[in-house]
Amino acid sequence: MTRHFLNLADAGGAAVGAMLADAQARKTARASWPKGRVDADAPLAGHVLAMIFEKNSTRTRVSFDMAMRQLGGSAIVMEAGGMQIGRGETIADTARVLSRMVDAIMIRTDDHAKIEELAHYATVPVINGLTDQSHPCQIMADLLTLAERGVLRPGMEMAWLGDGNNVLHSLIEAAGLLGFNIRVAGPDGYAPDAGFVKRARAAGAQIRFTADPVEAANGAQVVVTDCWVSMGQAGGEAKVAAMAPYQVNDALMAHAAPQATFLHCLPAHRGEEVTDAVIDGAHSAVWDEAENRIHAQKSVLRWALGQL
Ligand code: CP
Ligand code: NVA
Repeated sequence: MTRHFLNLADAGGAAVGAMLADAQARKTARASWPKGRVDADAPLAGHVLAMIFEKNSTRTRVSFDMAMRQLGGSAIVMEAGGMQIGRGETIADTARVLSRMVDAIMIRTDDHAKIEELAHYATVPVINGLTDQSHPCQIMADLLTLAERGVLRPGMEMAWLGDGNNVLHSLIEAAGLLGFNIRVAGPDGYAPDAGFVKRARAAGAQIRFTADPVEAANGAQVVVTDCWVSMGQAGGEAKVAAMAPYQVNDALMAHAAPQATFLHCLPAHRGEEVTDAVIDGAHSAVWDEAENRIHAQKSVLRWALGQL
């Protein structure tokens, strides 16, 4: 069976745990090395990853390329608009051709149905580099960041402030797989997908909703937010105005646990969902979180290619 990584559930809780352990060990083993040096065991030597971008990216693009270099392989980066897919070649035919040419495919796209179709026709692993539905690679980096700080454990209390978006969907999925709890605070009309919530609750996670940002933040060990208007979304002044009470600022962080960790997948819209004082302050782990995209994705790649 080809291992696709479209959502965290494709791997499951045990594999997520194995990937985090592998990522931590590899990160430690290469601490202070030049960033492009190949890991001692070069586990993906000779392997090539094709990346397709239908949306902008800084972190996902660079971290997957660096991940492949560090594993001894290489990457090809393509903008969808410059491919034949941009002028009508089908997703199925693209999947068939790339499967003959490369060892794995990462795609960032809009409609999640597109990545499902790509995976259906691909005979090599397909990895989700973000869709409108989910962003599992981001959450692998978030989990690694919390694990290395000693915060990630069953029963951990996380607060999410703002939009019920793709990043929150994958966090909710992680809560179900690993057994932590999330309190979501946001305005009416911007709740996350009910299916993700239902599955996480069925797995034993507490996913609670409130309109009150202080209630969500109260005593939380982890505080997370993301942009109020995601790529491809119709935003507008009404949404930004509705989100305004959910800004993560010093006053809100004062309600969290004293050593609380602040996470943001980035890019941040400083002054909107988060203030400079918080993102640049003592609680913030966002730069570790960004670096951890490389380390976490190396393990996702190894898992997808059957090495974990
Ligand atoms: N967090 C994240 O996915 O960043 P990019 O959009 O820069 O890839
Ligand atoms: N929710 C954001 C995440 C960006 C990495 C978006 O989809 O634009």
